[in-house]
Amino acid sequence: MQKQKASKKLGNAFKGDNIELGAGCGNFGQRFYPVCLLTDADEGIGTRCSNNHIDLCCSANEIPVGDDSFRVAIICNPWQYGFNDPSEGIQILEEIVRVLKGRGRIIIIGSLTNKYCAPEKVSKTIDAAKSRLSAQLTIRCVKAIDSKKEYGDYIFRTSGGDEIFPSMRIEIDVTK
Ligand SMILES: C[S@@+](CC[C@H](N)C(=O)[O-])C[C@H]1O[C@@H](n2cnc3c(N)ncnc32)[C@H](O)[C@@H]1O
Repeated sequence: MQKQKASKKLGNAFKGDNIELGAGCGNFGQRFYPVCLLTDADEGIGTRCSNNHIDLCCSANEIPVGDDSFRVAIICNPWQYGFNDPSEGIQILEEIVRVLKGRGRIIIIGSLTNKYCAPEKVSKTIDAAKSRLSAQLTIRCVKAIDSKKEYGDYIFRTSGGDEIFPSMRIEIDVTK
């Protein structure tokens, strides 16, 4: 409980425009969307990663920061959370919409075969969430990417630490 209060304080004091959810051992948001608050649900992240960049420990469906805080929300390679389970996907979208400012964007980077972020799952979740969201969500693009060409020497990792090579990026416009 004490930790949650401390996290909330940190989140609300943050002055950057962007947030990364499920950042794991990486710092993608800080490198490519500065200034970015890095978050992850794993409270043991400090022992899992040799280099821990996480600013705030929280789940993507319960972000302890105030409404209208960020312009961009980023999710890279979600695993065991995300858009596979429709009700969880809706909760995540509701929470992201809440923390985004009036005109925001969601960036999802992953692989087409990852059921937690496959474009059809994301699209279905947006449709299912429509009546519950206080914003209009429009998929701006689903782009095939070569992660090495696009992001150079940045290394994306599985939860177990192996390097992975995302093959697509979804960009969603959020208008409140
Ligand atoms: C496959 S790793 C990806 C890490 C990093 N984004 C990357 O691409 O290198 C998935 C991460 O999601 C985190 N995670 C799992 N469930 C989560 C949830 N409900 N909310 C936020 N993060 C979660 C895990 O702790 C893990 O660090």
